[in-house]
Amino acid sequence: MARYLVTGCAGFIGSWIADTLLRQGVSVCGLDNFETGRRENIAAVEAAAAASGAEFRLFEADLRDADAVARAVRDTSRHGAELEVIFHQGALPSVPRSILDPRTSHTANIDGTFNLLEAARAHGVRRVVYAASSSAYGNQPGFPRVETMVPMPIAPYPVQKLMGEHYMRSYWQVYGLETVALRYFNIFGPRQVPDSPYSGVMARWTLQMMQGKQPTIFGDGEQGRDFTFVGNAVSANLLAASAPAERVAGRVFNVACGQRHTLNRTFQVLAELLAFKEPALYTAERTGDIQNSLADISAARAAFGYEPAISFEEGLRQTVAWYQQQYGDVAAAAGATRP
Ligand SMILES: NC(=O)c1ccc[n+]([C@@H]2O[C@H](COP(=O)([O-])OP(=O)(O)OC[C@H]3O[C@@H](n4cnc5c(N)ncnc54)[C@H](O)[C@@H]3O)[C@@H](O)[C@H]2O)c1
Repeated sequence: MARYLVTGCAGFIGSWIADTLLRQGVSVCGLDNFETGRRENIAAVEAAAAASGAEFRLFEADLRDADAVARAVRDTSRHGAELEVIFHQGALPSVPRSILDPRTSHTANIDGTFNLLEAARAHGVRRVVYAASSSAYGNQPGFPRVETMVPMPIAPYPVQKLMGEHYMRSYWQVYGLETVALRYFNIFGPRQVPDSPYSGVMARWTLQMMQGKQPTIFGDGEQGRDFTFVGNAVSANLLAASAPAERVAGRVFNVACGQRHTLNRTFQVLAELLAFKEPALYTAERTGDIQNSLADISAARAAFGYEPAISFEEGLRQTVAWYQQQYGDVAAAAGATRP
């Protein structure tokens, strides 16, 4: 039986990767320090384990702590079969967070990634699949984004995620550790935190509309995003984990839908789904924001058969349904206190 470790397992994407593997009956270990992750996500992962009978074990550890990371990798290997693949999702995401406090995200994202690679190398892990970011492309001209473009990151966060990609490639070329970097484009879906100042736009707007609050759009709203449902990102991870090394090792792949939706259009679709009648509020653009994103996904298709099976509209429906189930009480309370 293959063995897997998911870093950032209490987070949005990491918890879905763990959940999906466990539902397939595969045992998984997770690592997280709960800096942005949630205990509720771990409860959901544990429920997935209980349903299939597969084992789940959590290491509560900080990626910045090299010894703790090495212990988690070692103990995962000892816990049943050899550890084969690490899905490295653990990081401090968010461009605005990295602008306000670059050192904290630098240490989590760069030192944390380095510690993980060192532990993987020391314990003979076969492959690391790394959560990279489309923000590495920056605001250069040229759409759709292709992996051969020279990255031009702007804010500290994309610089950090890009550094992780370079380290991934280096560990493949120098040490033969199979590494694959997946550049995610605006992932959305259930479990994305909606109520933090650093929340992704889809989650934040959904909760705000449910509470009767007018969402804010930075800029004129005509900037486009290649919004990608989390189930598509999970399938990309699982495919990249099992693809032959000669197709993926040391490489970078876009993970997206290959479609562009403006913020104005996204606002409209969400408003219709939630029967929200107010207009959006518009304010100035934010420093470091990406103007547009649209991916060419042909490399991931060719290398490991990736297909974004869940459309933008279907993803939005599933997302809204989940927030209504999870946050219905909060929304009702907000409605009750409104004049
Ligand atoms: N969501 C997106 O649209 C998107 C886009 C591009 C890249 N990514 C990348 O995907 C990965 C997952 O993102 P997400 O959206 O699920 O975010 P998230 O914040 O929900 O998950 C990140 C997880 O990492 C954990 N973590 C943070 N710092 C840690 C540390 N020092 N030690 C241990 N654990 C730590 C957090 O507690 C959290 O559980 C991240 O690497 C992120 O950079 C996400």
